[in-house]
Amino acid sequence: MYGRTPSTRAEISGANDRAPVKSPRTSLFMGTEKKKKSSNKNLHNANKAKKDEFYTQLIDIEKELKHYKEQFKNKVVYCNCDDPFESNFFKYFASNFKALKLKRLIATSYKPSPIANTQLGLFGDDKTLESIKGRPKTNANKLIINEVDDLDGDGAFDIRDIAEQLKKNKNNEWSPLEGDGDFRSPESIELLKQADIVVTNPPFSLFREYIAQLIEHNKKFLILGNMNAITYKEVFKLIKENKLWSGYGFNMSMVYKTPYNNDLEANKQFVKGKGYNPNDGYVKVPAVNWYTNLDTGKRHENLVFYKKYSSKEYPKYDNYEAINVDKVSDIPMDYEGVIGVPITFLDKYNPDQFEIIWIADRQNSEGLRIKTYTIEDAKNYNDLNRGPVVSINGELKVVYMRILIKNKKPQK
Ligand SMILES: C[S@@+](CC[C@H](N)C(=O)[O-])C[C@H]1O[C@@H](n2cnc3c(N)ncnc32)[C@H](O)[C@@H]1O
Repeated sequence: MYGRTPSTRAEISGANDRAPVKSPRTSLFMGTEKKKKSSNKNLHNANKAKKDEFYTQLIDIEKELKHYKEQFKNKVVYCNCDDPFESNFFKYFASNFKALKLKRLIATSYKPSPIANTQLGLFGDDKTLESIKGRPKTNANKLIINEVDDLDGDGAFDIRDIAEQLKKNKNNEWSPLEGDGDFRSPESIELLKQADIVVTNPPFSLFREYIAQLIEHNKKFLILGNMNAITYKEVFKLIKENKLWSGYGFNMSMVYKTPYNNDLEANKQFVKGKGYNPNDGYVKVPAVNWYTNLDTGKRHENLVFYKKYSSKEYPKYDNYEAINVDKVSDIPMDYEGVIGVPITFLDKYNPDQFEIIWIADRQNSEGLRIKTYTIEDAKNYNDLNRGPVVSINGELKVVYMRILIKNKKPQK
């Protein structure tokens, strides 16, 4: 069945913002009547910020980044939606600065974040930090690390060392930004120009713009985004042109820390099952992908198929010049024409083996649809015009989103 794809992370996760999370770091949302007013204002700000506050957990970053280690050698990494005091992306790169042989690490935060500089506690209870002068409380800030040493001499460079570095190492910079830290602002773009690889979880509401900017500046990137982004015309074009592909983590259900509440039992169970406390601001967000243009081993692996084409098993769509395949593993090895496959194909896509034609989208943006249904054809003609249609025992049925591909090396 064709399903409407959710449009925001909060919608996807079922998160709602009516009740603030009861966690110490969101205490700014609570208190007296007067504070309630400001709490409403904060929630309003959260709405205005389009529910973009989802903080990635370190373990999820580590799981993906372990595949790319050699590609970071001697590189300048920029985390441009990342308050150094909150972001686990920053924490990951700072802690692994030497192991990855990074040249430089840059992180900038975004001022309008409703919980900017208030949460996650990157440095935990490290009181030594409190003495640092000039840490902006509400401004966006930038942090540039050029050099690290294992200052406490325990053989490892850890987060305590970073704190020490910031205080002592003149080669590192920590200062407020002039503007609000918007990734599109001139000072952020200046930093972007210095960077080789951008790694972050950007605001989903600005995903199109975010990607466009990375492409415009010809940057390497590894970023988190929702599955839904694949269906954006602009993003799909990049996938088709092999300028963007999926990382290792595909269609993941993730746990993020967030100021938005989700009281659904299923959410709580999932979060608990992953070892987090749902009452502490953790929520499930399904259908998350890593998107990248860094090379991955998996995109060079040939898929092996075992089925041969037969018109009975692989019906042609009624409205596209293509056959339907419901499972990627069922792609007929010998078929030369266009094949409609589920979106999960992108997890396995090897550009040497397959060519991507386009997506069978509702907008028919590439004009590939050969038929538009009317009331004369079927009562549910509107639904039928949403995607590829198969005829099952004379009944027309729309199938879920399909990507149209061609095998470059069909086997006879
Ligand atoms: C999904 S959160 C991820 C935060 C962090 N990168 C992480 O993974 O934990 C996106 C972040 O981008 C920030 N943000 C929203 N709009 C932005 C913009 N225009 N420029 C830079 N950052 C922005 C939000 O405040 C939020 O903190």
